[in-house]
Amino acid sequence: SGYITLDPGFKNTGATKSAITYLDGEKGILKYRGYKIEDLAEKSTFLEVAYLLIYGDLPSKETLEQFRSDIKGQMIVHEDMKNFFAGFPSKSHPMGQLSCLVGALSAFYPESLNPNQNDKEEYQTIVNLLGKMPTIVSWIQKKSLGHPVVYPKKDLGYIDNFMNMIFGEVNCDRIFDDAVLDAMRVLLILHADHEQNCSTSTVRIVGSSNANLYASVSAGINALWGPLHGGANQAVIEMLEDIKNDGGDVNKYLAKAKDKNDPFRLMGFGHRVYKNFDPRAKIIKKAADDVLEKLGINDPVLDIAKGLEKAALEDQYFIDRKLYPNVDFYSGIIYRALGFNAEMFTVLFALGRLPGWIAQWKEMRDNKEPIGRPRQVYTGEVNREYIDLNNR
Ligand code: CMC
Repeated sequence: SGYITLDPGFKNTGATKSAITYLDGEKGILKYRGYKIEDLAEKSTFLEVAYLLIYGDLPSKETLEQFRSDIKGQMIVHEDMKNFFAGFPSKSHPMGQLSCLVGALSAFYPESLNPNQNDKEEYQTIVNLLGKMPTIVSWIQKKSLGHPVVYPKKDLGYIDNFMNMIFGEVNCDRIFDDAVLDAMRVLLILHADHEQNCSTSTVRIVGSSNANLYASVSAGINALWGPLHGGANQAVIEMLEDIKNDGGDVNKYLAKAKDKNDPFRLMGFGHRVYKNFDPRAKIIKKAADDVLEKLGINDPVLDIAKGLEKAALEDQYFIDRKLYPNVDFYSGIIYRALGFNAEMFTVLFALGRLPGWIAQWKEMRDNKEPIGRPRQVYTGEVNREYIDLNNR
């Protein structure tokens, strides 16, 4: 079988060429299609960034208008999909529900099963998924509360529609403070792509077998769920709560994180690629300060987070290993200020990451990449004589 290079965790293995996201982990630089994340977070709408990631360029006014209205036209979700909710226990985790519902879209839109869709057909599948994702997420939230769903409205934009479906009530729309909508916009943009991370690589590898977009993204959602990846945002807030309820001693938790016999890790700290700082975390930290101030919220876990960050950054263990706060460290504090419960945090990450998954799936298809099929170094037994059941 020839010589095989082993690289557990793919720490040094490039799996693809990609023209979507540029990342310099040493310098803390992140760019989508050549545009600085800081500029996009300040100036763009989320759908503009989605278009940029998927189609490669910032859209013209007309193209963006068309893209928006095509997505808005697909926000209604098939009523039969409500039946899934009858089967989920009321306390089931939103991420399990989300992957199931997104995967199920392929059953409702079987034209997506054709791996040779032309550009127009593929565009339809893409806007369908972008349109339905916020509605599906809102249904999950409403299910958790036992409330009736709120339908998308033609006169609202992508983010206000989403927020209204989440927090509005039937026949009673919610009007949101600009600060709330803007915080949501920034968070979604910052999460929109991050090159070959665990969930994105999953989407590409699943899609490489010519699996449809819904199935591939559903797999990505499951990969994102883990606490070492997107699930970290829920884990961070739970950790901060634990520290608060345990008397607020951050050093006790730093000691636990450093203890190699304790499985505890400082959630929201460390990154496979960023070794100086995570540029997203910088923007989010500021956004957390801004939004809490504007909404007049005094969240004691923000102080715990700041204390923990400061102590960790001064600690030799974290300095030696170049461990810095990542995107998930402060995002949960904002989500909570906006009114989401912790179990919804990773679902919000998925909503933000969706354009990136779509862009990467499409790039992999456009480049006609071969099926993903890693090799292995076999370490098991080679020759064994079969022993009859009676003789074992
Ligand atoms: N707390 C304590 N020690 C840590 C941490 C942490 N959060 N992260 C890494 N280390 C240590 C690790 O124990 C190892 O030490 P040693 O060299 O003594 O064995 C060293 O740092 C290198 O860590 P690694 O696990 O080999 O690094 P990795 O690149 O495989 O893992 C990571 C990256 C993000 C999974 C890891 O840093 C981690 O588990 N962080 C906590 C979970 C988290 O916040 N995840 C969100 C990541 S950012 C957004 C996203 O991807 O969704």
